[in-house]
Amino acid sequence: LASTEFDLTKVAEGQQVTIKWRGKPLFVRNRTKAEIAKAVADDSAAMKDPATDASRVKPGKAQWLIVGGNCTHLGCVPTFGGGEYGGWFCPCHGSVYDTSGRIRKGPAPTNLVVPEYAFLTDTKVKIG
Ligand code: FES
Repeated sequence: LASTEFDLTKVAEGQQVTIKWRGKPLFVRNRTKAEIAKAVADDSAAMKDPATDASRVKPGKAQWLIVGGNCTHLGCVPTFGGGEYGGWFCPCHGSVYDTSGRIRKGPAPTNLVVPEYAFLTDTKVKIG
């Protein structure tokens, strides 16, 4: 299946871009320091699908969170900035994800999926 390259300079801090990859949305989010700190602070909280924030980003690149843009419940596209964990909220059945894309509340069974990707340069990633 096709991989794709993405230029990270298109995404300002505190913003995200949704790209289409393999027919599905993918969120490329440039996290603020506050978003990262919030995610790390919750690393040991009780979670349905436990994962540290560091395990969901590349070493030294914690600002870049790249996750599938489909809710792991039934596939709706969650919106950023909703829900009480500062991350994404899925309007379909109320799943709430944190700033690491981890499921914190609602019917979704697992975290937003981190795809295979690698940094080609500081500002370019290859996804897939
Ligand atoms: Fe997101 Fe059901 S599809 S909560």
